[in-house]
Amino acid sequence: MSRKKLVIGNWKMHHTGPETHHWWQRWQELDERPDPQQVDLGVAPPFTSLGPLIDLSRHHPLLVGAQNLHWESSGAFTGEVSAEMLAEAGCDFVIIGHSERRQLFGETDTRIARKLAAARRAGLLPVLCVGETADERSAGRTEVVIEEQLQHALDHFEIDDPGALVLAYEPIWAIGTGQTATPAQAQAAHRFLREILAAAADSQVGAGVRILYGGSVKPANAAELAAEDDIDGFLVGGASLDPAAFAAIAR
Ligand code: 13P
Repeated sequence: MSRKKLVIGNWKMHHTGPETHHWWQRWQELDERPDPQQVDLGVAPPFTSLGPLIDLSRHHPLLVGAQNLHWESSGAFTGEVSAEMLAEAGCDFVIIGHSERRQLFGETDTRIARKLAAARRAGLLPVLCVGETADERSAGRTEVVIEEQLQHALDHFEIDDPGALVLAYEPIWAIGTGQTATPAQAQAAHRFLREILAAAADSQVGAGVRILYGGSVKPANAAELAAEDDIDGFLVGGASLDPAAFAAIAR
């Protein structure tokens, strides 16, 4: 099955409104932008820059998404934003279960499962992140860990269509460290995740869900990673802050 490549920039807690305008201006001025026929592109800015980026990209082929959400539609949850609010603001997708949220903000598999259900309820495409720590990898536990993360998330989330979910394999030791997974390491994890999806749903879902790699993706290593059979694109942190680097990765 052919899967269209997808490259998403996760800006994390970077880029104010004015900085988002500047990024967009530089993006528009690039000589060589990626061909939207070949690759889908998305950016997940901080909540406060969603509005500006949605307005700027209104007539352009760019998906805009949030980096987190709350699972209830509304209520007394100070500091939280719901899936419905994100959809109403014009978001297309939402990142769920990023390792920084798991490690720094106590995100649990149970919450992640609720967030997936909330994204579906509001019509947002969930981009679910899984990945192991360096210790887990050296103990040979990579597959156990990412299988558990994925199975938990799928507990209450039936995938009836390959377009209903995007997975991101982000080994924690590769995030922001410059230590990218080798193409073989990433491919092995992606293939394994695809098998779990096929077993949890069916072979069409297994073959059709896009699985992105994330962790120190740069223009210099993107091509060799993307050449692997089961790597369908990237979730890019640091390099996505620079429009030229982001475009080069996607090209
Ligand atoms: P870096 O590309 O900065 O390593 O970050 C990866 C990431 O966490 C994307 O979600």
